[in-house]
Amino acid sequence: AIERTLSIIKPDAVAKNVIGQIVARFEGAGLKVAAAKLVHLSRAEAEQFYAVHAARPFFKDLVDFMVSGPVFIQVLEGEGAIQKNRDLMGATDPKKAAPGTIRADFAESIDANAVHGSDAPETAAVEVSFFFPGMNVYAR
Ligand code: CMP
Repeated sequence: AIERTLSIIKPDAVAKNVIGQIVARFEGAGLKVAAAKLVHLSRAEAEQFYAVHAARPFFKDLVDFMVSGPVFIQVLEGEGAIQKNRDLMGATDPKKAAPGTIRADFAESIDANAVHGSDAPETAAVEVSFFFPGMNVYAR
């Protein structure tokens, strides 16, 4: 099915000047950019976006990192977009990410791991509307 998923190019990758290289991978895999913005998140926004992780030991480091610089937030659209994006990103920990994935090629650590992507249809719906209120989850 045609899906929409949320992608965030994190502060480490924005600072490395590789937004274009990462977007090219999405486009090369047949995903379309349906919405995009470069923003510097507030602490409140980062905490709310990652609220599901609030009780995890890495939460404070995660929020500190996500507000350390601008992020490039996109809605990606296409056939099986959620899983396709996850396959392109590779494992959360870049040390475990398969060769050729975005995290293997651009990420340094599990915190500075270059990209975030929605992990399921339910979270994609919540995450897309968090940053792009009113945007339909399903493509027309
Ligand atoms: P992301 O997909 O953005 O979702 C939550 C983030 O928390 C994750 O990527 C990692 O960057 C970060 N993180 C740090 N430590 C861990 C951990 N042990 N397990 C999962 N995520 C972690």
